[in-house]
Amino acid sequence: MGPAVPAAANLLNMADIEDPSADIICKCFQVNEATIRGAIKSGDLTSVESVTRACEAGGGCHSCHILIQLFIDQHQERKKGPAPEPGGRDRKIGFFSRLFGGRSKR
Ligand code: FES
Repeated sequence: MGPAVPAAANLLNMADIEDPSADIICKCFQVNEATIRGAIKSGDLTSVESVTRACEAGGGCHSCHILIQLFIDQHQERKKGPAPEPGGRDRKIGFFSRLFGGRSKR
């Protein structure tokens, strides 16, 4: 039988788990940021509870929940893609454009 493997290793890149310089986010279970972000990304996780099931982070004192939620929110924002450019195609049509129709030529 081989060495014990953390549950998160099933979902994640082993290089992320073994990176000693990565910041520990969940002190209760010694789970680092890369492991949590990797679990969120690979499982497209949307709740702290699902992250806890995937990699144990957040399963203790709950003090890391705010950071886990932040990582989830950031993942969801990245999935949506960049925000539309100000003044882009989705901009509001102003009074004169409605009155005279379309865009003015420069
Ligand atoms: S620090 Fe994550 S559960 Fe305690």
